[in-house]
Amino acid sequence: MIINLQTQITPTGDLVIPISQSDALPDQLAAVAQRLNLPASVLQRDFSADASEVLPIYDTEGQRTYLLGLGKEPQAISWLRSFRKLFFSQKNKLSAQVGIDLSGFDAAAIEAAVLGVLGGSYDLRLYKTDKTDTSAFFSDAGQLTLYLPASQHPNAQDAVTRAEAMGQTQREMLDLMNAPANYKTPQTLADWALNSGRQYGYDVRVLDKTELERQGLGALLSVSQGSDVPPVLIVAEYKPEGVDAVHTLGLVGKGVTFDTGGVSIKSSANMHLMKSDMGGAAAVLGTLEVAAKLKLPIHLIGIVPSTENSTDGRSTKPGDVITSYSGKTIEIIDTDAEGRVILADGLGYLLRHFRPDVVIDLATLTGSVIAALGYHAAGLFTQNDELAVQLAEAGNRTGERLWRMPLWDDYKEDIKSDVADVKNFSGKPLAGSISAAKFLESFTENHPAWAHLDIAGMAFADTEFGTQKNATGFGIRLLIDYIHNMA
Ligand code: BES
Ligand code: ZN
Ligand code: ZN
Repeated sequence: MIINLQTQITPTGDLVIPISQSDALPDQLAAVAQRLNLPASVLQRDFSADASEVLPIYDTEGQRTYLLGLGKEPQAISWLRSFRKLFFSQKNKLSAQVGIDLSGFDAAAIEAAVLGVLGGSYDLRLYKTDKTDTSAFFSDAGQLTLYLPASQHPNAQDAVTRAEAMGQTQREMLDLMNAPANYKTPQTLADWALNSGRQYGYDVRVLDKTELERQGLGALLSVSQGSDVPPVLIVAEYKPEGVDAVHTLGLVGKGVTFDTGGVSIKSSANMHLMKSDMGGAAAVLGTLEVAAKLKLPIHLIGIVPSTENSTDGRSTKPGDVITSYSGKTIEIIDTDAEGRVILADGLGYLLRHFRPDVVIDLATLTGSVIAALGYHAAGLFTQNDELAVQLAEAGNRTGERLWRMPLWDDYKEDIKSDVADVKNFSGKPLAGSISAAKFLESFTENHPAWAHLDIAGMAFADTEFGTQKNATGFGIRLLIDYIHNMA
């Protein structure tokens, strides 16, 4: 599908008219009714512009116009969701040519609309043998035309470029997230990163098992011990060419390609969803790729410790004490609290080899954050108030919302070990996402601008794409927005 811009609405193919809920709605509907030769009262009766509401209208030639509701004062996320829903649900019915009336809307709305359209083509049927694709619109011959006055074209063109960059990367991350463990190992993530780095001109190094042993990443190695597939540490670095990057941002993402729980094995009911325990890695790798594609003026470092967490005679056992890359010892109380253990080495590696101004880690870390916030926000943990505000605002702008949780030292008691420097689990079913964050904090060497995002509820969720939870791509739009506004 290709995208172009035009000034005049031409009556070919389908037309989508996005409409928000405001006092102007009756007049807007009257104008649409006039264009379509209908009584205004009919549209005013049948369409209230609720978010994602769709009203298809046919003219006497059979031409189709969709009125698409956006709700009240729509933010980018309403645009994105409404468009994605419409294009996903209609993809096999759409004409090869679809136009959207976007005149008067700003670049952020246009970007979100286009990203929504692109997102609507997502196909979860990765491993079906019969993949008959009947969407003319999403084929190579498909065409999306954005109708806007000429004065809006330069901004709209930039918005389309950004949406296409984001859409393509996000789709690849969804595929990686949705891939099961027999199609995805730590090396799969490493290969993706190496390829992306080559393609978009940033540096990617992969530390293999031998190298991890040589350098002493004992925490990552201890989690991988029970698995047949070797662990990796991915180290990606993007520096813009020709421009001075003002800030250095270090990102660390949890890349557990499958989490059985290890010897502290999970119950089987929802274990299959644990193929998605690399949502932090997807957010970090995706952000590096998008930043490199768009040549953003930021120095970015992305670290992904990646492993499976499996059960075997060689697995780490509860009670074992391991030595992390930082030199700190960890008593493993529960092998299912493996994310924080590998992140300890990820953070340790970042802080020993780079000098980031800001450090953000992302991880599908705890069920506890889901108990606290459900599926509507990720947990945000930081001692830095300014960083908390900046990240929360990026969350509100993108709809990838964050909610700040406390990091008081009272919770530090939960991770005190009798025998080692820290333990990986309190042993109590209380405040689990906070004690996990306190554990991570002890590996940040008091960095003044560190934030931890627990995205367990947000990375894999109910979507229109399937009946089971599946990947959302959470975090990439959030971080790119944060980077845009960092200066
Ligand atoms: N990967 C899980 C967290 C998770 C749970 C992600 C549900 C997505 C959905 C993590 O490794 C884990 O198992 N955490 C345990 C920690 C506990 C044993 C201390 C948890 O939260 O139950
Ligand atoms: Zn676990
Ligand atoms: Zn996990």
